Amino acid sequence: MNRLDNKVALITGGARGLGGAMAHKMAAAGAKVLITDLLEEAGAETAEAIQNAGGTAIFMRHDVTDEGQWAAAIALAVDKLGGLDILVNNAGIASDGTPLEHLSLEAWRKVIAVDLDSLFLGIKHAIPPMRERAGQWAGGGSIINISSIYGIVGSPGAASYHAAKGGVRLLTKAAALELAPAKIRVNSVHPGFIETDMVREGIRKMAGAGLGIGENEMKQELTNRHPIGRMGVPVDIANAVLFLASDDSAFMTGTEVVVDGGYTAQ
Ligand SMILES: NC(=O)c1ccc[n+]([C@@H]2O[C@H](COP(=O)([O-])OP(=O)(O)OC[C@H]3O[C@@H](n4cnc5c(N)ncnc54)[C@H](O)[C@@H]3O)[C@@H](O)[C@H]2O)c1
Repeated sequence: MNRLDNKVALITGGARGLGGAMAHKMAAAGAKVLITDLLEEAGAETAEAIQNAGGTAIFMRHDVTDEGQWAAAIALAVDKLGGLDILVNNAGIASDGTPLEHLSLEAWRKVIAVDLDSLFLGIKHAIPPMRERAGQWAGGGSIINISSIYGIVGSPGAASYHAAKGGVRLLTKAAALELAPAKIRVNSVHPGFIETDMVREGIRKMAGAGLGIGENEMKQELTNRHPIGRMGVPVDIANAVLFLASDDSAFMTGTEVVVDGGYTAQ
């Protein structure tokens, strides 16, 4: 189950957090992995840890909002690893809690650029090399877009993030329909709250916002929103992404995989 032997995967934002866990899982399943991120030290460390465990991984600094850097990242996957079969659009940033009424256009555009525009660029540049190799796998090529439960339901203070992640959900379906004839599958993944630096930083910020709620209370309140009784851990998401990347999900395209401990079932 879930093998990726002889496949090449590019994972954005793969230095740490969810992307780091995905890189480890995919390499352990036999994929050759290109990790890209803005964080050079953490990215190189993640690639090294994978190599030390016997896997194949390289790191490249890559700003996902820059089209030229996308072309360079895809070229590196093709030149150094032999092609491209799997793209995980994982890099992302959170919004900063500013209510809509006070949100600047600049702050809005920053989140849309990193969390939505970048996926358009990644999909566009991945198509030619994926098209070339898709026919040789039972499951074709696989593009996995990391959205969020916040791409399905709303909340106050995060309008740009919801707009971007909701956009990812339908960009995924549109791309899936365009690319099905090329045997390239496109699916989105919607995590609940997962314990990563992004969420830890968010909890710290909210606890420091003078609302009289401490970090532990904030964490408990977020935990309580998940009927399964805990927040997620990165491997919960990496397991779902691995399945979508593998030929075991060959009949899945244009769909959304919700991994949220029951958050959105309520
Ligand atoms: N943690 C959660 O609870 C959660 C829930 C739902 C969705 N997500 C999504 O999962 C993805 C990963 O989040 P995470 O929790 O691992 O966060 P994280 O902050 O730990 O990791 C995100 C990575 O993306 C990188 N990144 C940010 N901007 C970039 C850019 N312009 N170019 C290249 N890399 C960039 C960061 O350097 C970082 O390494 C994000 O898209 C996030 O929105 C996370």
